[in-house]
Amino acid sequence: MTEPDPDSYAREIAAESLAADDPTGWFERLYADAAGGTAVVPWDRGQPNRFLVPWTEKRWLRGDGRTAVVVGCGFGADAEHLASLGFETTAFDIAPTAVRDAAARHPRSSVRYQTADLLDLPPGWRFDLVLESMTVQSMPLSLRDKAIAGVRSLVAPGGTLLVIAAGREDGEPLDGPPWPLTRAELDAFAVGLSPVRIEEIREPDVLRWRAEFIRPA
Ligand SMILES: C[S@@+](CC[C@H](N)C(=O)[O-])C[C@H]1O[C@@H](n2cnc3c(N)ncnc32)[C@H](O)[C@@H]1O
Repeated sequence: MTEPDPDSYAREIAAESLAADDPTGWFERLYADAAGGTAVVPWDRGQPNRFLVPWTEKRWLRGDGRTAVVVGCGFGADAEHLASLGFETTAFDIAPTAVRDAAARHPRSSVRYQTADLLDLPPGWRFDLVLESMTVQSMPLSLRDKAIAGVRSLVAPGGTLLVIAAGREDGEPLDGPPWPLTRAELDAFAVGLSPVRIEEIREPDVLRWRAEFIRPA
């Protein structure tokens, strides 16, 4: 019997979740199925994001005890990268199984792995560095404003936000997940923050954003 394609399976259960008016419910189902050996998490790369690592290297980025948060951390590879640079790192995901398995994959980690919902964040969370990689795009457009506002709210005064996301042109048809971001949606991260550098990375058939913002001190 052939294994189902990981992307197809994720899209199938996402469609069921959306039809049941539970647009984020499929994440826990996917991670639980993966833990049971019946599914593969399509974004499980086992290593930090290829757009994050050069960004940190180019800046010789060091945390020096400053705080960082990883939104929708999955199995934690990006969080471990930031912790290795000296950031006091929190990483959260809506799926409890992802959080459990992230901690299990990195048993000696200093990262604080936590279950939390970007759409209903614990009060008072503020961090010096916020990494949002592909989580906003994993939720349907009806949740976009709230998700972006949640990400913005995590940035402390003087703090930096890095957004890594798939992009789409205005008017391009959508058939998510994922639901890539238009330039206007990317610009919505800048409300109350200042854009530092917005990179439009064009790969064959794919547009990606890597965008850095700061909140004035
Ligand atoms: C496409 S994956 C990206 C994972 C990781 N950030 C990366 O770059 O590989 C989206 C992740 O966000 C999590 N997620 C989705 N909605 C969320 C929400 N409302 N709050 C927190 N995490 C969420 C999912 O469980 C999943 O782990």
